Amino acid sequence: MTDEFCVRTAPFCAFVRRVNEIVDAEALPERAIALLKPSFSALLVNDLWLPEEFARPAAVSGMGSGIGSFLLYRRSDHSLSISSLVISPGTKTPIHDHLAWGLVGLYRGEQHEEVFQPRGLDPHSGALDLIERRHLRRGDFYDLIPPHGDIHRVVAADEGPSVSIHLLRNDVGCVHRHRFDLESAAVAPFRSGYVNVSCSDEESK
Ligand SMILES: [Fe+2]
Repeated sequence: MTDEFCVRTAPFCAFVRRVNEIVDAEALPERAIALLKPSFSALLVNDLWLPEEFARPAAVSGMGSGIGSFLLYRRSDHSLSISSLVISPGTKTPIHDHLAWGLVGLYRGEQHEEVFQPRGLDPHSGALDLIERRHLRRGDFYDLIPPHGDIHRVVAADEGPSVSIHLLRNDVGCVHRHRFDLESAAVAPFRSGYVNVSCSDEESK
């Protein structure tokens, strides 16, 4: 198996090399994240690496209509992925978790975000408490290390689509995660997929 590059621009490939150097050398999430931050921050303000086809909302996707989740890179063992999430103005993602540590940052547009935690810190509870609201502009980013900060919902807050970049220590579009309904406190299985590539057990796109 080989690593999968959907984007092959030079700045992005250089970023991926640096990411792999760091995660191969540093197993502790806190330390790996600290080392990744400078390169991730620089990527978010670089206009020269993301092709437009990965920055457009999709009419239909596993994340919901008007939301595109595009794989940009994943390791051959599916232990790390980099993806773009493109959200049409005013559109909301479902409330969802990620089940892996990582970094999420804004590349284009603006984004509101609501972060939740299970009520009583019970990981099986569908009842959630809102613990933080964030507003992200270009170049802003945050880390998540589950369980802290792992459950959120995102809304595009600008006149144009928002594009965020997700570096996660799993194949986030293909793992089986959870979506939450705030009013009914229900938890349901969730797999977002990617718009541009298949998961290994799906038919090829
Ligand atoms: Fe997310």
